[in-house]
Amino acid sequence: MQKTFYITTPIFYPNANLHLGHAYVAIFADVLARYHRSIGESTYFLTGSDENTQNVVRAAQKIGQDPTIFLQERIENFKALFLGLAISYDQFIRTSDKVAHWPGATLLWKKLFEAGDLYKKEYEGLYCTGHEAFVTVKDLVDGKCPDHGIIPQTFKEENYFFRLSKYTELIKQKITSGELAIIPESRRKEILSVLESGLEDVSFSRPRSEGSIGIPVPGDDTQVMYVWCDALSNYVTALGYGHDGALYKKFWPADVHVIGKDILRFHAAIWPGMLLSAGLPLPKTIFVHAMIISGGKKMSKTRGNVIDPMELLKTYDSDAVRYLLTRHVSPFEDSEITPGFLHESYNAHLANGLGNQVARVMKLASEHLTEPVPLPEEALVVGEPFKKLMGEFKINEATAFIWEHIAKADAYIQETQPFKLIKSEDKKDRVEGKKIIVSLVVHIARIATHLSPIMPETSQKILTAVKENQMPSALFPRKY
Ligand code: MSP
Repeated sequence: MQKTFYITTPIFYPNANLHLGHAYVAIFADVLARYHRSIGESTYFLTGSDENTQNVVRAAQKIGQDPTIFLQERIENFKALFLGLAISYDQFIRTSDKVAHWPGATLLWKKLFEAGDLYKKEYEGLYCTGHEAFVTVKDLVDGKCPDHGIIPQTFKEENYFFRLSKYTELIKQKITSGELAIIPESRRKEILSVLESGLEDVSFSRPRSEGSIGIPVPGDDTQVMYVWCDALSNYVTALGYGHDGALYKKFWPADVHVIGKDILRFHAAIWPGMLLSAGLPLPKTIFVHAMIISGGKKMSKTRGNVIDPMELLKTYDSDAVRYLLTRHVSPFEDSEITPGFLHESYNAHLANGLGNQVARVMKLASEHLTEPVPLPEEALVVGEPFKKLMGEFKINEATAFIWEHIAKADAYIQETQPFKLIKSEDKKDRVEGKKIIVSLVVHIARIATHLSPIMPETSQKILTAVKENQMPSALFPRKY
């Protein structure tokens, strides 16, 4: 049977436009999705938006817009960005979708309730609207949430609580046994230490109030589901859990949830707790990437240090943006990104590097070879070192690996000078020159094959040029 691969991104909050950090998440997951498709796996790639939050209502009110219209516009912006970045998602789930999402979220709630894991309790706590979670006094700096710079609100209310504490040991066991892999190791350790100190039960609903949005708690109209309980369930509702379950049967459990390190606890504690309570299988892997930072701080709207990916797309094409982020952002360590740095890398690696090499080789080939070079099978499949890096989520190293080969070929051209040999008086030289050109064409086809998940359009353009034995149009014009 064909191997399946189900990959998800977190669902994005639509109260603000997406910044480069969010674009990175989408590109990271897309590179992996495209790679798994390319090696013949039946792949399903899910992304979407996390809409049932009061922040959306507040943001809409602030500009005097109806929340539904506000959301519609935001989601169109998200989709336009994803189209611009060639994100090949199979589904975009919206948690406001009463057909695609609500039945599954409701069923999951019922399962938790039937398992005796939801109970009502009077609660007083500090709620950070940035986190969409209760925080404790010790989390605060000068009375404010240090991540969002806002003073949390005090809530005293009756909520449903999820008995997460009950699952502490079982979740720990699933993680230590590797049944639920948390990658990288530093994040695995982090969550294990959280588990070591024991999980507390979590508030799982909010009282419904005038103008509040959210999924009604089944059997209790006075309450709506807590936004994280609702949001996490998207990973199964999108597959039809709770209604038509064909995709669910085929793709659950997920092969990998891609998340940022700021939402580790929700995914590696609350979500497994919910699934265990409902008797559903756990995802196989949670991959936790690091952050894009700017001026030493996480890029975020509240800090005002964001780069707008839509702006980048005005200067660079989709593949160039994908390259710049894939190569220069480490999934494992926070990476500082500045527009100037991107500009330099574009010129060095794309205009002068890849673009220049493809143009040189195809110029020689189209002028001196009468027919397209027949491509050996191995030029069209990715090699083991690349596979290994992709399997370990090291997409930055996998990209750098391709550029090492580009550099080697540049050195080879310098050393062997095929452009001179091919014009030599001596027939032997000309034969040798031709042989070198053929090997260079095979080399750029190999490069294109490896590039396909990272720079899909460029990869196609190169392969077409090779197959037609023609110069491609300028791939990456130099930018000044
Ligand atoms: N809605 C929740 C996720 C719910 S998933 C069931 C959420 N949304 S978010 O829009 O705030 O963030 C979405 C993702 O973007 C998160 O994984 C977060 O880590 C990531 N990033 C936000 N800023 C980022 C950077 N500066 N760099 C890299 N990733 C960033 O959280």
